[in-house]
Amino acid sequence: MSFHAAPLTGNRTEQYVQLLDQARALMHGERDLVANAANLSALLWHALPDLNWCGFYLFDGTELVVGPFQGLPACIRIPLDKGVCGAAARTRQVQVVRDVNAFEGHIACDSASRSECVVPLVAKDGTLLGVLDLDSPHLARFDDIDARGLEAIGRAWVEAVQ
Ligand code: SME
Repeated sequence: MSFHAAPLTGNRTEQYVQLLDQARALMHGERDLVANAANLSALLWHALPDLNWCGFYLFDGTELVVGPFQGLPACIRIPLDKGVCGAAARTRQVQVVRDVNAFEGHIACDSASRSECVVPLVAKDGTLLGVLDLDSPHLARFDDIDARGLEAIGRAWVEAVQ
């Protein structure tokens, strides 16, 4: 199989609709959690501009453990009471952090990170599966359009792996 991501067109909301379609196509018929996380990280990394890290932390029942990602090697384990990832996992709310230096407890895996968007990944029965974490070297890279778009993509991953 070779994957050709069609270039995204239209405004950013429309682009996220197209990206969601591409994500669904990529995961179609595959339930393996790591395989889908790996391909989804690669898809997002190539489709979205201005990222320095993009990937998954998977919940092992105690803490978040780094999963498939694109970018520099990262912190391996994140307790739920630490970092933006921990906050997303704990509150089960998407976290958009415009300036990581202003976020108490931010974990600087890559000193280039300036802003982040972290989406919680929660199964239908309420089980925490992990988080989808995107980091940018630019301040305020992520807004509400990204949060909604990435939440929908995170939901598609959860649906695929269940
Ligand atoms: N952004 C995270 C840590 C993980 S890395 O950035 C890859 C946080 O503060 O939760």
